[in-house]
Amino acid sequence: MARVVFEHVTKRFGDVVAVRDLSLEAFDREFLVLLGPSGCGKSTALRMIAGLEDPSEGSIRIGDRVVDEVEPKDRNVAMVFQSYALYPHMSVRKNIEFPLRTRKVGKEEREKLASEAAHTLGLETLLDRKPAQLSGGQRQRVALARAIVRRPDAFLMDEPLSNLDAKLRVQTRAELVELQRRLEATVIYVTHDQVEAMTMGDRIAIMSDGVLQQIGPPQSVYEKPGNLFVARFIGTPAMNTVTGPVVPEGEGLAVAIASSRVPLPAPYAKAVGDAGLTGVVIGVRPEHLTLASEGLLPATVSVVESLGHERHVICRLEDGQMVIVRQQSSEPAPGEGSMVRLATDLHHLHLFDVHTEQRIEPA
Ligand SMILES: Nc1ncnc2c1ncn2[C@@H]1O[C@H](COP(=O)(O)OP(=O)(O)O)[C@@H](O)[C@H]1O
Ligand SMILES: [Mg+2]
Repeated sequence: MARVVFEHVTKRFGDVVAVRDLSLEAFDREFLVLLGPSGCGKSTALRMIAGLEDPSEGSIRIGDRVVDEVEPKDRNVAMVFQSYALYPHMSVRKNIEFPLRTRKVGKEEREKLASEAAHTLGLETLLDRKPAQLSGGQRQRVALARAIVRRPDAFLMDEPLSNLDAKLRVQTRAELVELQRRLEATVIYVTHDQVEAMTMGDRIAIMSDGVLQQIGPPQSVYEKPGNLFVARFIGTPAMNTVTGPVVPEGEGLAVAIASSRVPLPAPYAKAVGDAGLTGVVIGVRPEHLTLASEGLLPATVSVVESLGHERHVICRLEDGQMVIVRQQSSEPAPGEGSMVRLATDLHHLHLFDVHTEQRIEPA
């Protein structure tokens, strides 16, 4: 297996910049997830590793080799797509063997490797079927078997689970991670689904508009989103973000939300003061808000969503900004239309510059 490195890679399609100055390394044997909304450049980045697109600028390395001049077939990476792209007229066995055939691997070796790959994915009993005779999940496993059969340096997966129904997706998610650990494989996995990214990735690289926003282990990205985009993209329900001007409050500073004042803890007040910021965005995750009579912010409950194990209480602040509170089902539910007060531990606050949208670290 091998690491995969982007060095200042830009890809333009005419006027569209699909990927902008991307520098990124997937470590050897790492499960790296490229995460972002549709159109942010994930597939283009992956296709450049495979050699299906050429970078407009910059360079890509696989292992220690710069591959910019290397043909796709000589890059020794395997790609798995959302549409499994199996050959419909070929049996499962023939589909799995196909990459070996094109590489002129002898018959005996081919059958041995294909059987091993089929065994790894639990496909032994399906080898003589045609793709049309398989379920979506089985087809997906055939596509994976075909990818692992030739022992590539890295696996490139482009939303490989998105054609599966929700339940199968969750199951296959775990199976894919198991497989990656067993093969000690380098995997670069593209998805727009932040739950997939959080649960599968050793690290997550979040992209928006062709630009890498942040890269890190799931928990650290969750705990310290580097900017508002990441803060709002990671986590369900999304982080609450409330905007207000910075005002003096006693010796320190506060954020004004309608008639209320949210005092900034001293280290944040110092950072905000030092930077001369006049407005900030406060971020609080729904699980870090509670309904409490001593809460700082008055709000009206507009909708209560019950999910069985938990509850989402959707509130409007005095100025109309929407905030979601996540409650355990065991807590008492507020009535829709009732007035409540929202409380949080101030150490759960995230703070962002309203103009640059970058995270503000306490001074
Ligand atoms: N072959 C192409 N020609 C022109 N524009 C393209 C081409 N491929 C992708 N794009 C554009 O590049 C941007 C990124 O696309 P893509 O990498 O497919 O995003 P994602 O996989 O994150 O949804 C989009 O604006 C898309 O329309
Ligand atoms: Mg895509």
